[in-house]
Order: sequence, then structure tokens, then C-alpha cells
Amino acid sequence: MPKVTFKSPLAELSVDVPPGTTLLDAAEKGEAQVGHSCGGVCACSTCHVWIRKGLDSLSEQTDQEADRLDMGFDVRPYSRLSCQSEIGNEDLLVEITEESLSAFMDENPAIRHRLEAEGRWPLKK
Ligand code: FES
Repeated sequence: MPKVTFKSPLAELSVDVPPGTTLLDAAEKGEAQVGHSCGGVCACSTCHVWIRKGLDSLSEQTDQEADRLDMGFDVRPYSRLSCQSEIGNEDLLVEITEESLSAFMDENPAIRHRLEAEGRWPLKK
């Protein structure tokens, strides 16, 4: 089973998932902090991640995903929407964008408040 490692300034963790799993489902299984305001239906860009390793092993990007990604912040050639990207057979290294991390904090106020109390959120620039 491919291993997916999610990395952000707050944490790095890995999860093993079967091929065909979306990156967003892998993130939820591994409790990685990936935002998903629209619930995974390609109607926002809050699940935007950068694929640092294994980009070519993901499912092909659809026109709908590309159009939606165009509305994202700091989009790069290795950007994907995690809800639209199915995992292939290779291990992946996924960097959670600040856009996605911020959305996750908005969606999870209890976690945000804990990190604020610890002085870990918002991120220091
Ligand atoms: S969660 Fe909204 S586009 Fe992926």
C-alpha cells in the first residue's frame, strides 16, 4: 500500500492507504490538517496541496479541477486539489499549503484555539 506523508509547518505524519483513495480521504484517515470547505466536491480550493514527491502517480487532473485550482492561492506546477486526486501505487510527499491549513483552522476552532494557546497558530512569518 502506498504511504502518503503530509507535511506542514505544524506537523509531519504518514498514513498507508489503498490505491484509488483520494488525498483528502488519506488526510482525514491520518488526521492531517487539510481544509475542505466544500466537502470534497471541487467547489472551493481549500484542499489545495503541493505534491513534492509522486505527482505523476496521481490520477489525471480534470478540466474541472484545473479551472477550480485557478482560483487558488499560490498555485504551482505541482499543485493539486486533494479531493480530486486519487492515489496510485507510489509513495507521496504532500505539503499542505497555507491556504489549506488556514481553512482547516477555520473549520476546526477547538484545534485552532489549542494551537493559539500554545503559541503555534497563526504561523510566524
Ligand atoms: S474540498 Fe473543496 S475543492 Fe476540494
